Amino acid sequence: MSDLPTHLIHHPYHPPKGFESVSPPVHKASTVIFPSVAALRSRDWKHKTGYTYGLHGTPTTFTLEARIATLEGGRFCTLAPSGLAAVALVGMALLRAGDEVLIPDNAYGPNKAFAQAELAGWGVTCQLYDPMDPADLAARLSTRTRLVWLEAPGSVTLEFPDLPALVAAVRAHSAAPGGAHPQGVVTALDNTWGAGLAFNAFDLGADVSVQALTKYPSGGADVLMGSVVTNIEALHHRVHACHMRLGYGVSANDAELVLRSLGSMALRYAAQDQATRHLAAWLQGQPHIAAVLHPALPDSPGHAQWRRDCTGAACLFSAVFQPELSQLQIDRFCDSLQLFRLGYSWAGPMSLCVPYDMASLRVTRPWPHKGGLVRFSVGLEAVADLQADLAQALSGLSAPAKGNALQSGLPIHES
Ligand SMILES: Cc1ncc(COP(=O)(O)O)c(C=O)c1O
Repeated sequence: MSDLPTHLIHHPYHPPKGFESVSPPVHKASTVIFPSVAALRSRDWKHKTGYTYGLHGTPTTFTLEARIATLEGGRFCTLAPSGLAAVALVGMALLRAGDEVLIPDNAYGPNKAFAQAELAGWGVTCQLYDPMDPADLAARLSTRTRLVWLEAPGSVTLEFPDLPALVAAVRAHSAAPGGAHPQGVVTALDNTWGAGLAFNAFDLGADVSVQALTKYPSGGADVLMGSVVTNIEALHHRVHACHMRLGYGVSANDAELVLRSLGSMALRYAAQDQATRHLAAWLQGQPHIAAVLHPALPDSPGHAQWRRDCTGAACLFSAVFQPELSQLQIDRFCDSLQLFRLGYSWAGPMSLCVPYDMASLRVTRPWPHKGGLVRFSVGLEAVADLQADLAQALSGLSAPAKGNALQSGLPIHES
């Protein structure tokens, strides 16, 4: 080889021996080199016993998968490019034309949108069920039900369901002779809120636990990633095979960012939990506020289930305003916050808020409140500063309102 470009590419490279660091290295690859044709021919795509192509994993992504499985108390993990991609992956891996998926009415909105728009186009039907009523779920199960989504607590409104009772309804249906789908019914939990820290998804009966690693495991508000974890090997292989066919790889650099943040995750979860509970309890007593929704508050729906099943809570609470306040006033309240910024997502360092139109987002039971709702995500700022920010924005609501009442203009996304 005489040409410099060839030398630069075929330069001998050996990973350093005798070097150890706290963080695992970032291994990046599309191409993975095989030592021989025999090795290439005998490659194992299925069991992660070796490396085949960057899309299907590198030492960095395999390390993250192993750590997320540990976090969840599960055996097998598959990474996806976002939390929503992980939700969609479960549906695409398991559902076929003629099947039905059941989703809680208060689930993360894009999970419902994926089923109602994409899965419906592929011949898969979807029903929403009332997550606070296991009998409602039981009544909707049929021989076509293949997948039942669970979420705890509900996205935005934070009702904490009786997960073991919902799982028991599915198991009773599966055990009834001739009653269940021939391939069985899978329960999949969106465990982004619990994050593997507030409770163990598998102890409460879920077959599959999905997380948006975008939230706590990343913690930086700068990475998108998702995970699908299970203890059931056959289920894992279905998810993994679908993942390979879809080309759902994640970047090693992003995986490294999540690996870097995992070490501080439990501390961040606990600190944000403490600050959130403080602010939620304080806000309850403030003028203009009709209700505060947070599962640790005794009046919040599902508080007893949360107390029974959880050791902590995530950084979200929602405030329902007094019905006399117009949407324009609530929007101005949000605009006047200085530290809570307007933006989707949660569990990052910066506190966030988003107003929602709940009446338009509920199907199985009417939304019980008349006033507008704002969801808050509490970051890592000093809690006294966050409280002062809420107080100054609330005091602005007492000032005489200017302008006309706004009829609509609410965000339609959920995140
Ligand atoms: C409960 C829940 N699940 C899933 C997701 C999707 O995560 P991602 O934003 O990574 O797609 C989100 C995002 O907000 C979420 O709140």
